[in-house]
Amino acid sequence: MSTIKERDSKVIWHPYTSMKAWPEAIGIVRGEGIYLFDEEGNRYIDAISSWWVNLHGHSHPYIAKKVSEQLNTLEHCIFAGFTHGPAVLLAERLLNILPGGMKKIFYSDNGSTAVEVAIKMALQYWGNKGIKKRKLIALENAYHGDTFGAMSVSGRSIFTEAFTEYLFEVEFIPFPCKGKEAESVTALETALKNSDVAALIVEPLVQGAAGMQMYSPAVLEQFFLLCKQYNTLIIADEVMTGFGRTGTLFACEHISTSPDIICLSKGLTGGTMPMGATATTQDIFDAFYDDDKMKMLYHGHSFTANPVACAASLASLDLLLQDSCTESRERIASAHAVFAGEIRNDNMISEVRQTGTVLAIELKAGTASYHQSLRDTAYNFFISKKIIIRPLGNIIYILPPYCIATDELNTIYDAIRQLLVHLRSLK
Ligand SMILES: Cc1ncc(COP(=O)(O)O)c(C=O)c1O
Repeated sequence: MSTIKERDSKVIWHPYTSMKAWPEAIGIVRGEGIYLFDEEGNRYIDAISSWWVNLHGHSHPYIAKKVSEQLNTLEHCIFAGFTHGPAVLLAERLLNILPGGMKKIFYSDNGSTAVEVAIKMALQYWGNKGIKKRKLIALENAYHGDTFGAMSVSGRSIFTEAFTEYLFEVEFIPFPCKGKEAESVTALETALKNSDVAALIVEPLVQGAAGMQMYSPAVLEQFFLLCKQYNTLIIADEVMTGFGRTGTLFACEHISTSPDIICLSKGLTGGTMPMGATATTQDIFDAFYDDDKMKMLYHGHSFTANPVACAASLASLDLLLQDSCTESRERIASAHAVFAGEIRNDNMISEVRQTGTVLAIELKAGTASYHQSLRDTAYNFFISKKIIIRPLGNIIYILPPYCIATDELNTIYDAIRQLLVHLRSLK
């Protein structure tokens, strides 16, 4: 009998994978808490929450129960001309906890589509008002997804290289690295002054795929204030930062100026089902509220507001909003801070960064190219220790499910200590 792994290699084309270089995938058969179990009986710690989606652990019994109940009640229903309780309740609950007076939720399928919707809303908003504002501004090295609009507002990289000529023009301002914040703020103001800017899109506080690059709430506030000053919309892409990763429920809560549009996905369903949501203010919604059908938003997906995904999201919110979950996130953040302090001056490390439950360790390696051999060495080292950590170039990061126990965090920290020793031995 063939293994899943063997059958996979005959029929599957994996994401972000050179199928020639890495033809084999580990066959997972089960998940429980922070662990994934493979078909050979190995147990892996999921230190990166399965691409940053999982909040409460795998196959969480409470979410499973709620999803199962929903499956037996209503599995799916067209969302134009029809609605259902879970979609309405989820919108009500999200609007209750989102920062900045969001008033409407537009559902879609994933993070990229949440961003596509946001971009379309921002561009058409000005069109509907008869105001010529066409340009989008984003941060260098941003990552907002893999569909064409989302790729356009993402930094140009090997991810987008094959499609460069098909992407629309976006003005990129320098990432506000520590000590160079003023340059970014000035670049943003110059861009806002010189052109008709429809919107700024940012990953607030942490640029995930760029290597968990972090910047201060003070700069984010300055960016947002400038946009308000120049009457430009702000899109906060909280696809990764949302649902508690940065300490607060949403990264934008670290500041007092609000975005106009917030993109959500990943942790929205607790990592159980695919789902995207784009939240907007009343002002944005009102620009589409018109007798003229040309002013409506022509966007939707077959699985928009899927009831099972809504049920998973509601169950995940129940867990997320419990005090015990807040305490877990604080415990993780404190443990990260202690470990960061311990390794910060290691001679193999160039920088240790932390925002809330996200800890990133940048290894000394010259350029941070995605294909560095250091990345593969580190990845394979962690896999040999039965820990799933997918370094971004020379950057190792931990972004665990909130149910991780202190002992389990220590196992991960210990593996990182061992990696540093191993790397030293290779020098
Ligand atoms: C900030 C951000 N936006 C958008 C996306 C795209 O989300 P998805 O992979 O669900 O399309 C990601 C994915 O990593 C992300 O980190």
